[in-house]
Amino acid sequence: MSKRLEGKVALITGTGGGQGREAACLFAREGAKIVGCDLKIEGARETREIVKRENGEMISLQPLDLADGEAVESWIRLGEETYGGIDILYNNASSPRFAPVEEMTWDEWHFTIRNELDLIYWSCHHAIPLLKSRGGGAIINTASVNGLIGSPGIGTFAHCAAKGGVIALTKQLAVELAKYGIRANSISPGMIVTPGWDVMGNVENVHENLKRVIPLRRGGQPHEIAAVALFLASEEASYVTGANIVVDGGLTAM
Ligand SMILES: NC(=O)c1ccc[n+]([C@@H]2O[C@H](COP(=O)([O-])OP(=O)(O)OC[C@H]3O[C@@H](n4cnc5c(N)ncnc54)[C@H](O)[C@@H]3O)[C@@H](O)[C@H]2O)c1
Repeated sequence: MSKRLEGKVALITGTGGGQGREAACLFAREGAKIVGCDLKIEGARETREIVKRENGEMISLQPLDLADGEAVESWIRLGEETYGGIDILYNNASSPRFAPVEEMTWDEWHFTIRNELDLIYWSCHHAIPLLKSRGGGAIINTASVNGLIGSPGIGTFAHCAAKGGVIALTKQLAVELAKYGIRANSISPGMIVTPGWDVMGNVENVHENLKRVIPLRRGGQPHEIAAVALFLASEEASYVTGANIVVDGGLTAM
């Protein structure tokens, strides 16, 4: 059986754990060569080891701050030099600060915008010329259900602004880049059990609450996001661009 990403080169951000690690492993199993990165040194190295153990191909730069434009340019150049081009850009990494608006500091607001939006500007800015020179490609941006709805309790003011921005900028990318054969789509995860949940404290309580508010009565798993990203990256999604695919166990359907 042919692999779904055979011969493709995929940039994936935030491969140090969670959804980024899962995507790196799945995309590699499907034949892609992976160019990963993360701020987290240990996590990113571990992901590279896992991919290698499974006979996949992956290089990784860590620590890499994706909101630093020069660092992002070097990372993408390393990928191109190593594997001869880029076909897929999966903007998975992000890092928010949570607080109600009247308590949120200016620094927390800007931390969120920097680490949820600036990093997408930089990776798109530097990768798109390479996707064009390859004759096309796929961009997948990770948004969130918080780009569509608010949440009680955890103070998602800045996070909602940033993720709403991700959904909107993805539509603009789809329109702007279609003539180059580049598709752009976003994924909006609901509650996905990853290390990103550490900020929420008592995880047992969180799981109990999820049973009440999510029709499928559980949080999602990183592989359930990676599967959708794989579809969007592959030729099976050849007519899908400008879409925002919600993967939330029915949360936003209620
Ligand atoms: N887990 C959820 O419930 C959930 C829900 C909705 C959306 N999302 C989104 O899914 C994506 C993946 O998140 P996750 O759940 O796997 O969380 P995670 O925290 O486990 O993974 C995110 C990774 O991005 C890295 N990162 C953050 N900022 C960075 C920067 N400036 N430079 C380099 N690396 C950076 C982190 O170090 C981390 O390894 C994120 O965009 C997140 O907003 C997650």
